[in-house]
Amino acid sequence: MKKFFSVADVTNLKEIVAEALSQKANPNALEELGKHKTLGLVFLNPSLRTRLSTQKAAMNLGMNVMVMNMDKDGWALETRDGVVMNGTTVEHIREAAAVMGEYCDILGLRSFPSLKDKEADYSEDLFNKFIKYCAVPVVSLESATRHPLQSLTDLITITEYKKKDKPKVVLAWAPHVKALPQAVPNSFAEWMSKAQEENLLDFTIAQPAGYELSEEFTNGATITNNLEEALQDADFVYVKNWSSFKEYGEVYPVNENWMMDNEKLKITNDAKIMHCLPVRRDLELSSEILDGPNSLVIKEASNRVWAAQVVLKRMLESLK
Ligand code: CP
Repeated sequence: MKKFFSVADVTNLKEIVAEALSQKANPNALEELGKHKTLGLVFLNPSLRTRLSTQKAAMNLGMNVMVMNMDKDGWALETRDGVVMNGTTVEHIREAAAVMGEYCDILGLRSFPSLKDKEADYSEDLFNKFIKYCAVPVVSLESATRHPLQSLTDLITITEYKKKDKPKVVLAWAPHVKALPQAVPNSFAEWMSKAQEENLLDFTIAQPAGYELSEEFTNGATITNNLEEALQDADFVYVKNWSSFKEYGEVYPVNENWMMDNEKLKITNDAKIMHCLPVRRDLELSSEILDGPNSLVIKEASNRVWAAQVVLKRMLESLK
């Protein structure tokens, strides 16, 4: 594996989930695989889980890890070509990525969208240039449009906790006070759509009108504006806020109550509740759910290690 950016970089979902669970069962079995190899983690935005779980996964595989908080400690990056750099940017992505590729065998990059310019964000220009110029395998730690390590984690978690062959999985929009990217729901939708194609689950998306995701990510999903209808017989509910794709980055007022709580839980098939975290308590998701027996959020965050480990394992194997 030379790149882990989207579900398209994985040929068989069942296989990668099984491989991740085998890493979980025996975390240090491959500690020789990454010996004398270096992972560089480059963050243009904050992170708790992605940073620590990817670092932990690399250490389980015997790798050395370097972390660069580019937003705080790096030079201001220029990504445009053909411009005279006489403004605030100090270093071009061409040199910055190439130099990091000289120091590291594998690189990870986190880069959030602006939420101001849909075309620029959805072109993934920075990410693509980073991949092009660093010349080593790259794992996405969340890009403008996707968060594949989170989505692989979510599929691993659903596989572990499902009680039937084909569970009903619902992605449910939730309220928030800020405009958030579509990366997590886009990514979850494209992974779940592929899992549905592979007959692993049934997938529904519930969001208020105006919050439809790009159709590029939702192929085959049942889509509704009625949360209660979506929650009927749900085995897993994946709670997440996102801003509008259509009116890019906008936050429309929503009058109905979209926060998942114990009353709504009663409509489901005693569903397990998931969230990628961080979560705003009693705004996105009720404390009663987060502190109750149906919440999977901590187990889900714990599984981030095994998603990262299987991806790094495959990348290390491709270096040989
Ligand atoms: N879910 C997730 O990616 O968490 P962090 O932003 O803390 O890494």
